[in-house]
Amino acid sequence: MTTETNIILAFDLYGTLLSTESIAHKLGSHFPAKAQSISSLWRRYQLEYTWRLNSMGIYEPFSTVTRNSLLHALAEHDESLDDDAITALMNAYDNLSIFPDVKLTLTKLEEIPTVAPVIFSNGTQSMVSNSVHRSPDLSPHASLFSDIVTVDDVKQFKPAPKVYLHLAERLGKSSSQIKDIWLVSGNPFDIVGARSVGLNAIWVDRNGRGWVDGARPDIQPTAVVNNLEQILRVIRK
Ligand code: LAC
Repeated sequence: MTTETNIILAFDLYGTLLSTESIAHKLGSHFPAKAQSISSLWRRYQLEYTWRLNSMGIYEPFSTVTRNSLLHALAEHDESLDDDAITALMNAYDNLSIFPDVKLTLTKLEEIPTVAPVIFSNGTQSMVSNSVHRSPDLSPHASLFSDIVTVDDVKQFKPAPKVYLHLAERLGKSSSQIKDIWLVSGNPFDIVGARSVGLNAIWVDRNGRGWVDGARPDIQPTAVVNNLEQILRVIRK
């Protein structure tokens, strides 16, 4: 039986705790009118590249994927930047803002020692570690996370099954205990990937549009929340 005492909350990072849209602010200093659009396309290509690389059986570190997808998004907007500006934008990835509901949730989790939170991300170990430890918003909560699990060792990206099985192995959970891991993610493809190998998964639906992902219509999140804070209620049930 799953009790609060053995629940592990595996937080996705980019798009769940940290807003990849917050980089639009930085892009705005170069392209005021196009920053939002470039930022959205950058994120779309970043994810698309991970899925394409998975399909081809090729691995490139997420930092490389992130850099290459930025170049693609810029080119599609008929824009470019010199190497220094690209490097500055990549460094800005270490300073992404948290979503507004994150601070209170993490503060409350600090008071529940029986729930173990970890970070679980596509990023490389150094990229994720920088994002967690250098983000002015997230770094005060860094000690809450008992581990940072990334895809580095697996050399595949979410939603490849191996990635979630690696998380379970790293957390010492056998296949019969895999349900003790609750992925918390704002990314529907991540939710479907986790659920398809037996993890529980809470989808953070901040836009409140409801679950419309149809990649595997038979696979649904264990729970849907509109605000991260509501995960506390879900895991207490
Ligand atoms: C991550 C991706 C999904 O942090 O953005 O794993």
